[in-house]
Amino acid sequence: MWEPFVLRGFDLFDAVTDTTREGGLDVYRITAKEDLTPVTKLLRIEAPAVARKAKAGQFVIVRVNERGERIPLTTADYDRDSGEITIVFQEVGKTTKLLGTLGVGDELVSFTGPLGRPTEIDKYGTVICVGGGVGIAAIYPIARDLRGAGNIVISIIGARNKSLLFWEDKMRAVSDELIVCTDDGSYARKGLVTEPLKELLSTGRKVDVIWAIGPAIMMKFCALTTQPFGVKTIVSLDSIMVDGTGMCGCCRVEVGGETRFACVDGPEFDGHQVNWDLLLERQRIYLEQEKRALELFEAARAESKEGR
Ligand SMILES: Cc1cc2nc3c(=O)[nH]c(=O)nc-3n(C[C@H](O)[C@H](O)[C@H](O)COP(=O)(O)OP(=O)(O)OC[C@H]3O[C@@H](n4cnc5c(N)ncnc54)[C@H](O)[C@@H]3O)c2cc1C
Ligand code: FES
Repeated sequence: MWEPFVLRGFDLFDAVTDTTREGGLDVYRITAKEDLTPVTKLLRIEAPAVARKAKAGQFVIVRVNERGERIPLTTADYDRDSGEITIVFQEVGKTTKLLGTLGVGDELVSFTGPLGRPTEIDKYGTVICVGGGVGIAAIYPIARDLRGAGNIVISIIGARNKSLLFWEDKMRAVSDELIVCTDDGSYARKGLVTEPLKELLSTGRKVDVIWAIGPAIMMKFCALTTQPFGVKTIVSLDSIMVDGTGMCGCCRVEVGGETRFACVDGPEFDGHQVNWDLLLERQRIYLEQEKRALELFEAARAESKEGR
């Protein structure tokens, strides 16, 4: 059942991708690459049509080659003048590892976007922006634009250890206050991002809205931390996506007891309303297939390195 659906879907998805190309002529060339951590890479990509419209909170769907799967990645930054989009990704499986093998001058076959609803940037007062792990890249443009709109921005960023932390300088530049944490205490404050979050709220300081972006489990605990204080907490849900345009239903999540599609209704939602257990369960649906795909990819890579 699944296979024919995917095959039929790909024709449709290609048409969707083509609508973002100008006359089918855009070339999604990599113009810069940076290793932010041993497992986190940054790519800047020439995509003028996407860069012209991209806003904080949105994402793109990327395909590395003609036979490749479609993966969603947040637009971590955009430059309307040069027509470039920055993506930051963690190498967790086959496609992100394959993407990580590309270098400057290489091209992607498709780069669809901007997708999803942008962050509602407004003047709220004092806001807290929490970024965990690769989520730091996603929270960066949100913090920057919220500050640009006149908010006082307090940011909290965290990673498992010092080697996985990045963009501290960029986050400092767009925040009025920045708190940095590592789970193991190898750098800055020891502990999870939820600890300074709770402390800030416990001081009685007026906080108007909170954004938290990172692994689902981190966002769940941020939402649980803020709930007793009654401060609106917005999260960005990374449910599994295929088309990214509301057609396949793959990204469905439950928010406030209702089914929503993260790709078109989100990805940002009220964290206090999200059914986190369902999201975490659905993220694991293809674990076996993902494991197998990675094994085959690693084996093929090892074989080609040995010149077999
Ligand atoms: C809106 C959105 C924005 C995202 N932004 C970023 C980002 O900026 N940087 C980043 O590193 N990651 C981001 N992700 C997650 C990223 O899409 C997955 O890490 C990637 O798809 C994994 O693919 P893989 O083949 O390397 O790994 P796999 O081994 O296939 O999967 C590893 C895990 O990644 C998740 N995943 C797999 N396929 C998909 C898919 N098609 N859609 C969503 N999740 C998937 C699943 O939880 C899975 O267990 C985002 C996800 C969403 C939904
Ligand atoms: S990814 Fe298909 S409906 Fe959202």
